Formats: sequence, C-alpha cells, structure tokens
Amino acid sequence: MEELPVAAAGVEPSSSATVGSAQLQVADVGVERFNNDHQRLLFYIVEFSRLAERFRHQQPIDEEWDPIDAIFPRLEKYTQEHFQAEEELMRQHDYPLLTRHIAQHQELTGHLQQLKESVTTRHVEAIAALESFLFDWLTTHINQDDRQYRGCFQLAESRQITEKALFNEMISAEQLKRIIELSASNAVLLDLRTVSEQEEGIIPGSQLYPCAHNLLNRQDTEPFRRSFSARFAPEQFDSEQWYILICRSGPRAAIALEAFQEHDLPACELIGGIQEWLRQGFSLVDREQALAEAEHSTPV
Ligand SMILES: [Fe+2]
Repeated sequence: MEELPVAAAGVEPSSSATVGSAQLQVADVGVERFNNDHQRLLFYIVEFSRLAERFRHQQPIDEEWDPIDAIFPRLEKYTQEHFQAEEELMRQHDYPLLTRHIAQHQELTGHLQQLKESVTTRHVEAIAALESFLFDWLTTHINQDDRQYRGCFQLAESRQITEKALFNEMISAEQLKRIIELSASNAVLLDLRTVSEQEEGIIPGSQLYPCAHNLLNRQDTEPFRRSFSARFAPEQFDSEQWYILICRSGPRAAIALEAFQEHDLPACELIGGIQEWLRQGFSLVDREQALAEAEHSTPV
C-alpha cells in the first residue's frame, strides 16, 4: 500500500482514524457543528480507502463500480450543506479570509465534479485520484485552511458573551468558563479576595488584585468600601480592557464594580463569586503555580 498522507503534526484533533498504516487526524476548528461535519468526511475517507484498496491492482468489473459511484451523492450533499454553513458563519463574523475560502470551496466542488465524470466514464485511475483528493481535502483544507477560522470565531463568541455581560453588569460562572475555554478575549479576570483566600485557589487566568478586607460582615460594607477606595487606583486600569470582578460570593465585586463604573472602566461581576464557580463543579488552580507560570503574574 502506498504511504498515505497524514494530518500535519501538532494539530489539536477533534477526531482521528486509522487508515492502513496511517493515523489521520482532523483538526479541531472550534465549532462543534463543523467538527462533526469534518468527522463525517473522515468516515467517508476511511470507507472509500477500504474500497480503493481492493481496486489498487485490479480494475472493477461492472457492478463493482456501484459503491464507488455511491460516494458522490453523499459528498455532493456534504459539500453543499457544509460549505454553505461555513461561509454563512464567516460572513456573520466578517472573516477576513472569506473570499479566499469561498474560492477554495469552489475549487474543491469543481474538482469533485471532474472526478465524478472520470468515474462515470469508468477510468480506473479515477479511484486513486479520488482517494488522493479526499486526503488532500482533509490535510490541506480542513487542517490548514478551516483551522484558520477557529481564532476568528472564538474571538467573536467570546466578545459576544463579554459584551452581554458588560451590558448586564454581571457574568455567570458558565459564561466565564466558556470565555476561558475560548482563550480568545480581551477580558481580564480580576480576583479581589484577600491573599489568604486566594491561597485556597484561583480561577485559571485570573490576575490578582488582593484587597485587605474580606467583608465577612455583610451588614457593614463600609470597612470594605474604605479599604477598597484606598487600594483602588483607576489609572492602573485600561478603558480598552474588559474587567470581570471576582470575589468569594459577590458583594465585594459589586462594590468594586461601582468604582470601575465611576471611572468609565468596562466591568462586570461574577455572579455568586468563587462559591458559585465551585458549585458548578469548575476547578481552581494553585495561586503560586499560576503566578509562576503566567507572564502577567505580577499582581496589578
Ligand atoms: Fe472550509
């Protein structure tokens, strides 16, 4: 068997399959629906490769062309629906490489039609050519070209969540978790708890802005207000950034939010604070380790 092209090393795969001696990986493009579509294409490739292997050294007789013919309606439907959906989402997000990407889709569609004609006229070379075309589709188009839109879509989703949160002045633990997963955002997570509270663990990616007062007495917010005012220096913050304020259960973040808003600094509070984060089953990371690892480890 000829050596098959294998997906580029280093892709974060959303799915993989073994074909002959090759392990094929499909890059995670960051959109679940498209990952599922790509997985379907991988399935077609695996099925077709098994078929092609049979005819590598012998010409199919009449009815043996039937399963080869059968792949085209599936691929045509696939290209039509999948490409349309991708292009639609790209338009929605003003994807800068949209024109080029549409041209690539058209090229793939055109190439598929040419191969269909070769198969219809029973050219035996068309089987190997179709197999090679499908591998190229996976390794070049999906794992390289499609993968490029991942960052653009993730940033758009992250912005959408954050803009909504800023409008509502609050963000849920689930929304914050999603922003962290997307890892494409200009939102800054600001942990306002005391150092000893932070030592119990912090939300991944948080910057530390420890305040001296823990506001255990909810009936008397004045000590925390005074402590926070003494600590708060608006010039340390950037009005182009979006701040997500985090405390143990919410009240301190709500007070800090007032100060941020007074200085026109875009901010919102994490509803229910770290307690709600933990209630949702989300984990914390070690403060010292996070500080050592993160480039922005210097507390604000
Ligand atoms: Fe595409």
